[in-house]
Amino acid sequence: MASSCSYLPKHSSFQNHSISTNNVTSILSFFFLIFIPIHVLPVIVSSTSYQDGATNDLFFELLKKEAVERLYELGKVSDAHGYLERTFQSPASVTASKVIGAWMEDAGLRTWVDNMGNVHGRCDGLNPSEKALLIGSHLDTVIDAGLFDGPLGIISSISAMKLLNRTDRITKLRRPVEIIAFSDEEGVRFQTTFLGSAAIAGVLPVSTLDVHDKNGVSVKGALRQNSLEIDEESLLLLKYDPESVWGYIEVHIEQGPVLEATGLPVGLVEGIAGQARLKVTM
Ligand SMILES: *[C@@H]1O[C@H](CO)[C@@H](O)[C@H](O)[C@H]1NC(C)=O
Repeated sequence: MASSCSYLPKHSSFQNHSISTNNVTSILSFFFLIFIPIHVLPVIVSSTSYQDGATNDLFFELLKKEAVERLYELGKVSDAHGYLERTFQSPASVTASKVIGAWMEDAGLRTWVDNMGNVHGRCDGLNPSEKALLIGSHLDTVIDAGLFDGPLGIISSISAMKLLNRTDRITKLRRPVEIIAFSDEEGVRFQTTFLGSAAIAGVLPVSTLDVHDKNGVSVKGALRQNSLEIDEESLLLLKYDPESVWGYIEVHIEQGPVLEATGLPVGLVEGIAGQARLKVTM
């Protein structure tokens, strides 16, 4: 659930009076304008259905200018001097969570932080009980990380929702859309990966809560230092019922050389690498 986009759900029916969640995906794809050469631009612009001058300006303002500014702003939120480092529940991670939460609210989303430190922003649209489209990525980083690894997926989705908000479309979505900024994907602090998304998927072993970092602080203890209480019961409550989820999209920077080598601006992946960490005692 955490590293890259694995699957774009197919949209079934479309009615003119409401905005389909597909608009979110087309807006997200517009976001790639940041990275693509200018000659590709007309193709993408014409593939979105509601273009006029004013909307175009708003697209550039929110999806390009502001989003890029935010990537650089978040890239400065670091526990280290001179390079980017944000590990699970570190001071910089907490600051980043607050910044992200404020951006979600600015986009018109209802926000909360769950007991594993994941930051959520949701809008219900027309049918609050429909299955939700989840969009997300991770807010933690590796040591000496790049700007885009994680934040790209968070910021692009917030920008997409903000555009829907500013064009009055956010309340007309046919299903809820929820952005989740996961608290841990990289596993740098505890040598465990996916603390945030594994909790939401319901696959995080309870024993992980007692794993210690190199200073002897447990996962539970790190959360408690930031006033988040987690135990077996509250961990179970974090699990999302698969029946309540329609699909999950993640925009992620490519971590290999393929797109760059082939000159392609964007790709849809068919599968992603799984990560496992094993400790072997000899
Ligand atoms: C858009 O977001 C703002 C917060 O920035 C909120 O006050 C407003 O109600 C939202 N508009 C819609 C249509 O949801």
